[in-house]
Amino acid sequence: MSKALDGVRILDFTHVQSGPTCTQLLAWFGADVIKVERAGEGDATRGQLRDIPDVDSLYFTMLNHNKRSITLDTKNPKGKEVLETLIKQCDVLVENFAPGALDRMGFTWLRIQELNPRMIVASVKGFGPGPYENCKVYENVAQCAGGAASTTGFEDGPPMVTGAQIGDSGTGLHLALGIVAALYQRKSTGRGQKVLAAMQDSVLNLCRVKLRDQQRLERTGLMKEYPQYPDHPFGEAVPRAGNASGGGQPGSILKCKGWETDPNAYLYFITQGAVWPAICKVIGEENWINDETYATPAARLLHQKLIFARIEEWTKTKTKFEAMDIMNKYDIPCGPILSMKEIAEDPSLRESGTIVEVDHPKRGKYLSVGNPIKLSDSPTEVTRSPLLGEHTEEVLTQLGYSTEQIAALREERVI
Ligand code: COA
Repeated sequence: MSKALDGVRILDFTHVQSGPTCTQLLAWFGADVIKVERAGEGDATRGQLRDIPDVDSLYFTMLNHNKRSITLDTKNPKGKEVLETLIKQCDVLVENFAPGALDRMGFTWLRIQELNPRMIVASVKGFGPGPYENCKVYENVAQCAGGAASTTGFEDGPPMVTGAQIGDSGTGLHLALGIVAALYQRKSTGRGQKVLAAMQDSVLNLCRVKLRDQQRLERTGLMKEYPQYPDHPFGEAVPRAGNASGGGQPGSILKCKGWETDPNAYLYFITQGAVWPAICKVIGEENWINDETYATPAARLLHQKLIFARIEEWTKTKTKFEAMDIMNKYDIPCGPILSMKEIAEDPSLRESGTIVEVDHPKRGKYLSVGNPIKLSDSPTEVTRSPLLGEHTEEVLTQLGYSTEQIAALREERVI
């Protein structure tokens, strides 16, 4: 079956996590992704957090599926010539170097346009234009600068980063959308363009409900769904809300049977207004249905701690899965806190291709995430990440280099 991005050729100049997330997605949609790496070392993540000596790390393999790898010294004049050929023959150049690195290499936007006016140049940077635009940035810096850390955690604790890589993988997702939009616009304009996804902006985009709350707080002085209400005063900025729900329906994480020994024996429970009578029946508090202290959502906001403590008395008598089964019968929204072990072993996630097993010539079989976006006419087949420089000769031959020229480039350590 054909793929959505068949025929799109990507010059993948990305490294670490943010850029590779983006180009891996494009590869999963069928683009031909040529990853350009430095000879000898390649993407730094090949060697980071290794679990098997001298074998590409899971960090690398899980971010670089379905790509081809070529080695090239792009600071060497002959390497620059190869890069120029690649630029002429590719549709998109994706990079996430530190600010200015591509310019320092000699590949400014103007130069790239001279070489290929249809070229789309897509970049991840830590910050957009402004005081920090020249800063190098990693995941947690973006989480902090994008508003996630100040609004995550508990009121009496410090700001907290989250395990979800919203700065890196989140920005990669944003960039991929920008690239596809630019490819679409190119159909009518015939021109390439620059695409920028800044990590701070992407994190903020994902934290928009907190910017919403900042304005609500400034207007009204309080937010009734926050755990601070009604006992603790609000300050000037959106406080950390613990595990309270970010939406209009109160929610909390509750202990389930086995919580004393299992750190993940918990359930997220939402007291959605529509199912309040069902919740009362399940936990054995039918009198709460019409009791004016609890009967309306507004009244319940004053007693959230007590309500969740009572529901927790009930959830503590059930495992998280038993509680889920019972709640689901009544359409009560809730979700188990799943450990990575449970997720890795989940048959339905394997079945849907959200988790895939991949075979690698050096490491053997390992698990990875598959494409989380499913297209009915463009199925994703996850293939292993390339070894360093595995496709150098193949790609150079496709670009028109002869065997002798390739041998000379190798001799001179350009590739
Ligand atoms: N041949 C020759 N030189 C190459 C090369 C190649 N194939 N590929 C990269 N380089 C050079 C670059 O030109 C650059 O040289 P310069 O500093 O002389 O200009 C150098 O390698 C290092 O690149 P840099 O991006 O500065 O790497 P770093 O390891 O110092 O920094 C980051 C890493 C992630 C902090 C930085 O790249 C960054 O801030 N990126 C943007 C934000 C981002 O994506 N962060 C998230 C990463 S998950």
